[in-house]
Amino acid sequence: EHSALKDIISHAKEYGFVYPSSEIYDGLQAVYDYGAYGVELKKNLKDVWWQSMTRLNSNVVGIDASIFMHPTTWKASGHVDSFNDPMIDNKDSKKRYRADVLVEEYAARLEEEGKAAEGKALEQELARLLDAEDLEGVRQLIIDNGIACPISGTTNWTEVRQFNLMFSTQIGSVADESSTVYLRPETAQGIFVNFLNVQKTARMKVPFGIAQIGKAFRNEIVARQFIFRMREFEQMEMQFFVRPGEEMEWYEKWKESRMKWHKVLGVPQEKLRFHDHEKLAHYANAAADIEYKFPFGFKEVEGIHSRTDFDLSQHQEFSKKKQQYFDTEINKNYIPYVVETSIGADRLFLMTMFNAYTEEMVGEGDKAKKRTYLKFHPALAPVKAAIFPLTKKDGLPEVAKEIFDDLKYDFNLVYEEQQSIGKRYTRQDLIGTPFCIAVDHQTLEDKTVTIRHRDTMEQERVAIADLRKVIGEAVSI
Ligand code: GAP
Repeated sequence: EHSALKDIISHAKEYGFVYPSSEIYDGLQAVYDYGAYGVELKKNLKDVWWQSMTRLNSNVVGIDASIFMHPTTWKASGHVDSFNDPMIDNKDSKKRYRADVLVEEYAARLEEEGKAAEGKALEQELARLLDAEDLEGVRQLIIDNGIACPISGTTNWTEVRQFNLMFSTQIGSVADESSTVYLRPETAQGIFVNFLNVQKTARMKVPFGIAQIGKAFRNEIVARQFIFRMREFEQMEMQFFVRPGEEMEWYEKWKESRMKWHKVLGVPQEKLRFHDHEKLAHYANAAADIEYKFPFGFKEVEGIHSRTDFDLSQHQEFSKKKQQYFDTEINKNYIPYVVETSIGADRLFLMTMFNAYTEEMVGEGDKAKKRTYLKFHPALAPVKAAIFPLTKKDGLPEVAKEIFDDLKYDFNLVYEEQQSIGKRYTRQDLIGTPFCIAVDHQTLEDKTVTIRHRDTMEQERVAIADLRKVIGEAVSI
């Protein structure tokens, strides 16, 4: 594992952000739990996304569809037949890998070694073989290039097999084919099947969008990349329904608007890029990823896809229910085209952690030491302010608690009176709290407190009466 990734994993664990699932039983691969600060950070990310989608766009409304759906949904969407990863096993280590990932990582190494053209050619050959469903060809490609198992170091590979990523289970008590249901592998289908319900009941006119946040499940063959690729994760998706022929305009608009959103939340321009897909899925006529520069390379965080009328047409065919919309402005019936934006809340969380994690040296000469802090945008910070009485005496805790009680309805706060004030500051730096408020003896005289700013460590005196305004302005976007 990359050392920067290791740092994040241990920081996330030690300071209450993310733990391996069921850790006392040694965990469950690619499944994770969020702790006290992680749950707040994730909730803030979801809230900011939800607000920017539904409140800032009067033509986008929300929905909360179920995880279980009628099994025919997944036949119509194409997931039963083609939501597959090609996998390969190493006969010596008995480890299972995604064949395409093995080749892609090898191509990336070639690029790093200055053999970009060779890497590119390899990727193109892989795409051709996968397109032609030539799985034996993929195996041969791996062997011919000497791509070895990272564990055993050998090229003793099995054949390549397609592996469906959907989890299935049975509904009811009789296990037969007809009772098989799937855990949804994307939230999007819950939106497509409700398209007319929402359009009619919320009285929407094309163009309009439906936004949703919810769990999705994929039986991924995983590399060790922490919460980058999980088996249970959360998606935040928005499907935007437009007139046929107008999809490219909206596609460009949503691409720009989503990129801007990441920048507003504090991700620097140079760590973000678009990756426009050359090779498109069968249902798409344009697709791009927003990629973030993780320590393990530029990787997809969000996808923006122009999905044409593929999904609604498929559902019309399989359900035999018209999925058309009557557009009164142009007096026409049509199946709308769809532009979707799709981001994983957990992957966004990981990006936010990397972007916030800061180590710097403070102090001079012998006294210099390392300071670690999480530089979250205040709107995302799990705790907005920590309130400390300087000492446990002289009525300072009472005043600090009063401040706490007054502000707790507006902000997530912590109150802390144990240990030295320096240690209390350090602790808040490690969870990314933007403000520490200290109550001291001067407070008793003039009703002011000191506010210490996380990033600069500067302190200033502020009237207690102004605290709500100061914090409120910082945490709004
Ligand atoms: N409805 C379109 C769709 O699901 P996708 O590219 O498969 O598209 C969209 O997924 C986003 O969901 C990705 O950009 C990523 O952020 C997130 N995502 C997908 N699979 C994931 C996984 N196994 N673990 C965590 N996040 C995942």
